[in-house]
Amino acid sequence: MARATERWGYGKRLWIKRDDLTGSVLTGNKIRKLEFIGAYALAKGYRTLVTCGGVQSNHCRATALVAAQLGLECHLVLRADERDAAATGNLLLDMLAGATYEVLPAAEWGRQLKSTYRHLEEAFRTQGRPALMIPTGGSDSLGVWGYISAAEELGRDLLENDVTSAVVAVATGSAGTQTGLTAGAAMFNLPLRVIGYAVCDDATWFNRRVATDWASSVERWPSLPNIALVPETRDHSVGAGYGLANASTYELIAELARLEGVVLDPVYTAKAFEGLLSDIQAGFYDGVDDIIFVHTGGVFGLFSHQEELMCAIRSVQPERRGH
Ligand SMILES: Cc1ncc(COP(=O)(O)O)c(C=O)c1O
Repeated sequence: MARATERWGYGKRLWIKRDDLTGSVLTGNKIRKLEFIGAYALAKGYRTLVTCGGVQSNHCRATALVAAQLGLECHLVLRADERDAAATGNLLLDMLAGATYEVLPAAEWGRQLKSTYRHLEEAFRTQGRPALMIPTGGSDSLGVWGYISAAEELGRDLLENDVTSAVVAVATGSAGTQTGLTAGAAMFNLPLRVIGYAVCDDATWFNRRVATDWASSVERWPSLPNIALVPETRDHSVGAGYGLANASTYELIAELARLEGVVLDPVYTAKAFEGLLSDIQAGFYDGVDDIIFVHTGGVFGLFSHQEELMCAIRSVQPERRGH
């Protein structure tokens, strides 16, 4: 990203891995995981994909569309308060893809999700439409393969672009992407240092989660090497919490869009990118020449943040006369 490098790089080259360009509606990091999850569902004879997430979940939208593409049914368990459940962005696409869904109030989520999953699994089984129950974000020992293979691809990207070593920065929410990239970098012995930028929880939580998810992946798949991972997470850009962004985050979205034609989202990618830029500025990456930001998608989440984005557009846009 030549212009972003000039503006925010402090002597480092900023690259972007466009996982937001994996399709038109099938975009983002979830597609890489669902490639393996979907194949598994077909191979094992499942007829339904069930998954869960926030009402504007990118993962739920991607699952709904993948299910339609594979001729499977999809049912979603969505977390929302009444006022959030407008049929826009990802939810609108879920509905277009024919997914059925139920909404759990945010306050009940922790208490009800497990029992809801148990009930749904049993209900789909007795109806003769067995369901593969996919956890939040598709982050499990199946989904992990998506970013192991993405790491391999990044290794080829390095060679093609004459980059000898790099930091890979990525938003982390349920740790699946971070786990796959960290594991893939280690497995293929790549000169990549993977840093997860947390959008919720904290660094300790993510480092532990990467380690436990990797341990269960190694246990499940004998083809995976039993290597110890050293996960690295930065958590200073979580801000007020999951889904809550500052005016500066929205302004960064507007700035990068006009600078590079790259559109980030306020829940994941913009927070991560903001955390990365503040680390660069603070000298955290001194000695590093190349930084690759993995754009994990999320564009449809923008449409439920219209007001904040309009403020940001006004504040980064110099007055234009006559328009
Ligand atoms: C756009 C986007 N980026 C990043 C993430 C985080 O990925 P993971 O859940 O694998 O940590 C998500 C997860 O929902 C996402 O939708």
